[in-house]
Amino acid sequence: MGIPSLCMAPHPALRVVARPVDAFADEVRRLARDLIETMHAHEGIGLAAPQIGRDTQVFVANPSQRRGGELVVVNPVLRGARGRASVVEGCLSVPNVWGRVRRAAAVRLEGRDLAGKPLVIEAEGLLAVVLQHEFDHLQGRLFIDRLPWFQRWRAEARLRLAACA
Ligand code: NI
Repeated sequence: MGIPSLCMAPHPALRVVARPVDAFADEVRRLARDLIETMHAHEGIGLAAPQIGRDTQVFVANPSQRRGGELVVVNPVLRGARGRASVVEGCLSVPNVWGRVRRAAAVRLEGRDLAGKPLVIEAEGLLAVVLQHEFDHLQGRLFIDRLPWFQRWRAEARLRLAACA
């Protein structure tokens, strides 16, 4: 089985609001496995289903990049957001662009695991940032949307040029 290819901005799949999972069957497990393998293949610390062209509310996160440390989240909802953080972010779907994004410093994320059981994650530090970044992907949002307008404009211009090359 090959590694799925990544959708690169401005690919329209990255702008779709993903659909919640209602059947926790093999298909969701396969999707999670594809996300984990693709994330490792590109040395990422997170990856969301729209990035491999799937409009399903599933993402994986693994700030340590350690095999076996992957967190799989289905149908996530972000609740208690506390404090402020400002971290330089990048994205596998937005090549060669980095920018400092304002986020909450700590979040509580509620969702499901692959078996459909409730999952609650209290996160701070890098994990909190990754969870917010991946959650955004499931809403059709990219980190560049959260940059000051001039940085966003410059990033989008660069992406359009790259898409034509
Ligand atoms: Ni991303």
